[in-house]
Amino acid sequence: MTRARIAVLVSGGGTNLQALIDAEAAGIIKSGKIALVVSNVKDAYALTRAERAGIKTETLLKKELGGQEAFEEKLIATLKGEKIDLIILAGFMSILSERFTSEFKDRIINVHPSLIPSFCGKGFYGLKVHEAALAYGVKVTGATVHFVNEIPDGGKIILQKAVYIKEGDTPDVLQRRVMEEAEWKILPEAAELVSKNIISE
Ligand code: GAR
Repeated sequence: MTRARIAVLVSGGGTNLQALIDAEAAGIIKSGKIALVVSNVKDAYALTRAERAGIKTETLLKKELGGQEAFEEKLIATLKGEKIDLIILAGFMSILSERFTSEFKDRIINVHPSLIPSFCGKGFYGLKVHEAALAYGVKVTGATVHFVNEIPDGGKIILQKAVYIKEGDTPDVLQRRVMEEAEWKILPEAAELVSKNIISE
């Protein structure tokens, strides 16, 4: 294998997907190739970003498929059909069961917008993470890229980057700074690291 085939799972705006697309174009990701983008939300803007970059897209809706189990079976079949080696959760807002995570052991990574083990696990996603960090009053937060197992945000940590909180920060302002200073950097770096390991196996 010369390059790992990557699938990116998204639910929203897709700025992390964009960071991955840009990093592949810039040669920062050279051991992997984004082959597929899957959304679990209809018309997510991330799909437009993928189409613009000429990447194949797929939308799988839990409601239409008849629930979580059927959704995961269809997702597994889709990923296997595309011979995917690495799955990247980039703003994917659905918790995957052990049935799914054990099928792709050490082959799924996620970006989370805090320094795990702070502000993570069930219920901590998107802006809620930054609201919780500000409410607690921490002075430093950041982002984490980790392997995904059956425990939400509980898999082995790959990379982390710290970001300072500033006086007057709102959840939106903080979210943007964490993305710019941490997520958009460490997610492509981790994608390259893990892809490189996969192709050398
Ligand atoms: C990102 O901040 C990502 O870390 C977070 O949602 C945002 C998605 O933005 N993910 C989670 O909270 C997962 N638990 P994006 O769609 O622009 O990449």
